[in-house]
Amino acid sequence: MGEVLSVVSDALRRRFRDAERIAVLTGAGMSAESGVPTFRGGGGTGIWEWKGRPVTELSSAELLAEDPALVWEWFEYRRGLMKAVKPNAGHFALAGWEKGRDVTIATQNIDGLHAAAGSRRVLEMHGNLWRGACARCGLRKDLPVTPLPEVPPHCDCGAPLRPDVVLFGEMLPPGVYDAALGAAVACDLFFVIGTSAVVYPAAYLPVEARSAGAFVVEVNPEETEITGRVDVTILGKAGEILPNLAHS
Ligand code: OAD
Repeated sequence: MGEVLSVVSDALRRRFRDAERIAVLTGAGMSAESGVPTFRGGGGTGIWEWKGRPVTELSSAELLAEDPALVWEWFEYRRGLMKAVKPNAGHFALAGWEKGRDVTIATQNIDGLHAAAGSRRVLEMHGNLWRGACARCGLRKDLPVTPLPEVPPHCDCGAPLRPDVVLFGEMLPPGVYDAALGAAVACDLFFVIGTSAVVYPAAYLPVEARSAGAFVVEVNPEETEITGRVDVTILGKAGEILPNLAHS
């Protein structure tokens, strides 16, 4: 069991200052202070049902095959909710860490907020709400505007697009987990931020990082599944804790 803190310690600030390679895993809690609901924990405010159907059914590969228009309608609803959302102090702090360091962020979030804050190496393990993907030619197309002019939207090749998001019952996009694992085992400092760490394979990353010798720090207002397997847990909000790490 690692240490559990409620503020950033000087020892941690020193570790942070000396780290050359940092890898980060983020989850829904990273965007909570931007107003994006989480799925679980902290009074999880996520949407679990829409039009009488559970989210596990709406965001499923089966329903996409059966009724793509309905799946798009559901995604348009979510895109509408997320349209005005902006990165918070935590996202901006992570983007700032890149100065003079090698930083890779593997995120389970599909909101695009790390890139919006200026982070450059972001691995979107669960896809992106603001993109479509073509099953025919493989093109990924940015779809930044909601409502969409046509539903379902079409690819330049003429085929209908699907949301470029990992649905229940689907594998992660090829290569993305390997890239995240590569960063996790190569870093000296690993952060696991705002995730309940119950969804795999993302939840393996902090464990793999630690086995490979990284110092692992969790940032979350609550203890989670991973708390017993990290070096330090800082109980607090990402937007309050992360900007503090770089202060000496
Ligand atoms: P969860 O909703 O499971 O967990 C959110 C975590 O964020 C909880 O542990 C909260 O305590 C924490 N949290 C809340 N506010 C916070 C704050 N201000 N700062 C830091 N942490 C905070 O979200 P994920 O772990 O991301 O997958 O869920 C993983 C996956 O489950 C999602 O990507 C999604 C879902 O099924 C897919 O859709 C494929």
